[in-house]
Amino acid sequence: MRRFLVTGGAGFIGSNFVRYMLEKYPDYFIVVYDKLTYAGRLENLQDVAARFGDRYAFVKGDICDAETVESTLRNYQVDTIVNFAAETHVDRSLLTPGAFIQTDVYGTFVLLEAAKKLSLERYHQISTDEVYGQVLEDRSRETDHLKPRSPYSASKASGDLMVLAYYESWGLPVTITRGSNNVGPYQYPEKVVPLFATNAMDDQPLPVYGDGQQMRDYQYVLDHCEGIDVVLHKGKPGEVYNVGSGSEMTNLEMTKIVLATVGKPESLIKHVDDRPGHDRRYALDVSKLRSLGWEPRHTCAQAIAKTVRWYMENEWWWRPIKNGELYQAYYAEQYSQRLK
Ligand code: NAD
Ligand code: TYD
Repeated sequence: MRRFLVTGGAGFIGSNFVRYMLEKYPDYFIVVYDKLTYAGRLENLQDVAARFGDRYAFVKGDICDAETVESTLRNYQVDTIVNFAAETHVDRSLLTPGAFIQTDVYGTFVLLEAAKKLSLERYHQISTDEVYGQVLEDRSRETDHLKPRSPYSASKASGDLMVLAYYESWGLPVTITRGSNNVGPYQYPEKVVPLFATNAMDDQPLPVYGDGQQMRDYQYVLDHCEGIDVVLHKGKPGEVYNVGSGSEMTNLEMTKIVLATVGKPESLIKHVDDRPGHDRRYALDVSKLRSLGWEPRHTCAQAIAKTVRWYMENEWWWRPIKNGELYQAYYAEQYSQRLK
């Protein structure tokens, strides 16, 4: 494993992963393959292109386009695919579910076909704790049944099942990681922590869905990247590994950390209509990955505060996004009624 195709590498976690891998492994070559949807941004990789230009290439392409996927794999003699490419926001999956099925299900199939045809050394799928559905008690283990409840998580679960089918049917060397909620640099400000941090900086209300007692495991994005790295190198083909901080907090607790870090009053909190089908709690058992020698380096609280500080120091990155027409249209559709 030396030559990687990182699909969705211009998005939040993908761009952090590419930087992490190129810094850690001086002999690796990475091709980022990305459609550049609203969430994919070359700014996320501009320092990577400058620092690692001879070991990094960018190809604009859709994972649903089998021809371009295959020619890119051949041109760059890729031996490993790591698939981050996806539609990723639950609220958008309630507005436009078709896009999720197209990329997260059909796109995964296209990549698997290409990996099989070219006999790649590894296909790694980036998945999510949301495929287990809400867990009101205990923690999800890799062997648990999948009970996704949103169009996003149902699409991701379908992708996972297809990946495992290629292992069972043709022995394709696949691995899957299921990560909890990530926070860190370059996360599009539709997701809750960057949305709340940037709203707080602008003295805008923080729209907390429902009672704010939903629980999430907010992990730092580089802890997740380290987990993926460990699975790529030490994981067993055909296996699934959970990746998360192993702790969780309520959305209200998260919101208070955001406000305290920015230095703004809790009067900015506004309880609004809940998300339909809102999963009450996710929680992962991460002992399987721990047994490979991996440990998360941040608690939820540390991860959130560190992330908020990055947004305070990097307005150049998020301000143009939030001022853009696309974002404003989305924000109005999602929140104007709720915030009235
Ligand atoms: P993101 O929305 O920031 O980035 C997704 C990237 O995929 C973008 O660069 C986008 O342009 C690209 N993309 C979308 N459709 C594509 C297509 N058809 N072809 C090629 N590229 C396409 O997402 P993220 O938060 O970085 O998530 C990355 C992966 O991690 C996803 O698979 C997601 O399901 C998974 N995941 C995310 C989280 C989280 O908290 N963000 C947690 C667990 C798992
Ligand atoms: P999100 O970042 O959308 O991730 P996910 O739904 O995939 O876990 O949301 C995280 C939590 O924050 C989730 O419980 C929903 C809640 N939330 C709000 O309360 N208000 C918001 O405006 C958003 C976007 C999310």
